[in-house]
Amino acid sequence: MTRQILVTAALPYANGHIHIGHLVEYIQTDIWVRYQKLQGNNCRFFCADDTHGTAIMIRARREGRSEEAVIADMREAHVRDFSGFQVEFDNYGSTNSPENRELCDTIWAAIRRAGLVKEKDVEQLYDPVAGTFLADRFVRGTCPRCGAEDQPGDNCSVCGATYTPADLKNPKSTLSGAVPEVRAAEHLFIELEQLHDFLSEWTQDGTHLQPEIAKYLKGHFLGEPLRDWDVSRPAPYFGFEIPDKKGHYWYVWFDAPIGYMASTLEWCRKNGDDVQNWWGADSKAEIHHFIGKDITYFHTLFWPGMLKTANCNLPTKVHIHGFLTVGGEKMSKSKGTFVMGSTYLKHLPPAALRYYYASKLGPGLDDIDLNLDEFVTRFNTDLVGKVVNIASRCAGFLAGQTLSDVYPDDGGLFAAGAERGEAIAAFYEDCNYNAATREIMALADKANKFVDDRQPWVIRKDPSRADELRDVCSITLNLFRQIVTYLAPILPGLAKQTEELLNRPISNWAEAQKPLTGTPVSPFTHLMKRIDTKQVEAMIEESKEAMAAEAGAAPAAPAPAEPTFHPADTWKDSGDAMKNEPLAAECTIDDFVKVDLRVARVIEAKHVESANKLLQLTLSLGGGETRNVFAGIKSAYKPEDLVGRLVVMVANLKPRQMKFGLSSGMVCASGSGGPEVFLLSPDTGAVPGQRVH
Ligand code: MSP
Ligand code: ZN
Repeated sequence: MTRQILVTAALPYANGHIHIGHLVEYIQTDIWVRYQKLQGNNCRFFCADDTHGTAIMIRARREGRSEEAVIADMREAHVRDFSGFQVEFDNYGSTNSPENRELCDTIWAAIRRAGLVKEKDVEQLYDPVAGTFLADRFVRGTCPRCGAEDQPGDNCSVCGATYTPADLKNPKSTLSGAVPEVRAAEHLFIELEQLHDFLSEWTQDGTHLQPEIAKYLKGHFLGEPLRDWDVSRPAPYFGFEIPDKKGHYWYVWFDAPIGYMASTLEWCRKNGDDVQNWWGADSKAEIHHFIGKDITYFHTLFWPGMLKTANCNLPTKVHIHGFLTVGGEKMSKSKGTFVMGSTYLKHLPPAALRYYYASKLGPGLDDIDLNLDEFVTRFNTDLVGKVVNIASRCAGFLAGQTLSDVYPDDGGLFAAGAERGEAIAAFYEDCNYNAATREIMALADKANKFVDDRQPWVIRKDPSRADELRDVCSITLNLFRQIVTYLAPILPGLAKQTEELLNRPISNWAEAQKPLTGTPVSPFTHLMKRIDTKQVEAMIEESKEAMAAEAGAAPAAPAPAEPTFHPADTWKDSGDAMKNEPLAAECTIDDFVKVDLRVARVIEAKHVESANKLLQLTLSLGGGETRNVFAGIKSAYKPEDLVGRLVVMVANLKPRQMKFGLSSGMVCASGSGGPEVFLLSPDTGAVPGQRVH
């Protein structure tokens, strides 16, 4: 039976970039989603940026621009990072969207109707230097319950207690370092205690939560009356104003989980679906949330409570994972182990991190450790040495030919691999990717043994054994493809390359059940390159420098040596551009010709309403053929200055649906962004439509 499954990962805060800790979650979730899609389930993956709260407000003030500008930039960076790691959402929304506003209103009205809201005066901490009330993470101090020092203002990382910042002992503002003053303000609360019975049942019935989480909630919260939940903040606050309480805003954690629903709604509106099919009380959809253990309370008590009160579909399961450590320690900025996703991608392939995390992730809540040596070895040994090696030792021998017309006798190897399909599937379903990868590597060992035994490179030397060679290679390539199908949720890139190699899509789990026969084999291209500890070292070094620069401190690294100039180089251009963006991995002429660059003329250019960075361009390739392109060049060019000029465009880029319309292509430019953008122009004489070689 086809299951209807809605999956979410936590909405990343819009006040920071995606780092390798976050990626534990997004990769874990993406693997699960890809697995469900391969099984043919109607599975959708929704996420969004979590945009509201004091942090964004403070950052916007510091940077002298609007909150909207800050979150638009960060969104672009998040989307780019996720796509770099092959994390593929069906919709990526924002909590600052009209859809979210609409749903917050509806859910709030239901909570009011149910009589759960009450008003209380709260003595709140106020930062007299920053001029704002201090909430949650902006106050640190001693936990009122267990006495742990330097704890955030909303919950204690040692004993898990939740409280208000005013309860903290020895509080300090993290904004200014000032000792906060106590000021009274009115707040709205949700009386969670009224939902106690429901929450006890929902959390303890053994299906929605991992057993250790159910036990933790029972031991820490459900044994005593649940505290009222403070859901409003007085102005100034960046968020949604509460419709029936002017001058007060919903606390970010009220509207954040509703963002899951808003992202669904956005997708439904684009795809002609009804959000009730997913979130309505009568929906048949399963809802799976993936989160880190630090935000357990919000997702296992508040959120189900809100959904219940608003008569919505409840989560089927909240999957909670542990935290990332690097080399057995917390990620550290000074040690360079606080690595941003974008920094990682400059040095290493996404497949390496996806595979490494998969090989570490189990169904439990244990923290996962990134050991950098093991990371390199595991990728090289398992993926390059075992998996890719199967294909690379024989694919070339069949290039341009077809696989055997009848699947040859392989001594039962393929059938044995097919038989493991169900067990491997069950491991994916249970988020036990560690067990799945071990099973799959065992299959790879067997396939390699087959190649070792049959030695196609020896058979090849004897022209009278051509049929045998074809059979041996057909078996090997089928075993390879079976393994790649099992790995496809983890390694979508390798799956795609294998589709191209063997000219058959891997769009279904069942592809591992039946060998291919008679289909063409494409020329073999390298599937994966070994990685080197040097790449890891360079990444750590860059992270160290980036973090030092962010902290305003001088980088710890020694100053780089002066570049030496060639005698004829009277221009002495600075090496900064190359330093800021080192050369990409080597490519071949075949790679280059895939990109069809054309000369084009800008025939129309205009501003895009509500887009801070984009201009909408109509580009002509001559002969009446035009392309609509959104280009992030607004800070650098005025529309009227562009009309008539020639540019270079990527003309065969896959069109991309943006909020503002379809973008079909890209204009080429250099520079670091913002006002530092420089369009490329061809020399005089070039005409629209000409290809750039
Ligand atoms: N904005 C909230 C979530 C709102 S969901 C309605 C938030 N954002 S976050 O950016 O701080 O974290 C996003 C997710 O990444 C969380 O589930 C968090 O647990 C996870 N991780 C953040 N750092 C992590 C590690 N170092 N290791 C593993 N997961 C981590 O919380
Ligand atoms: Zn505590």
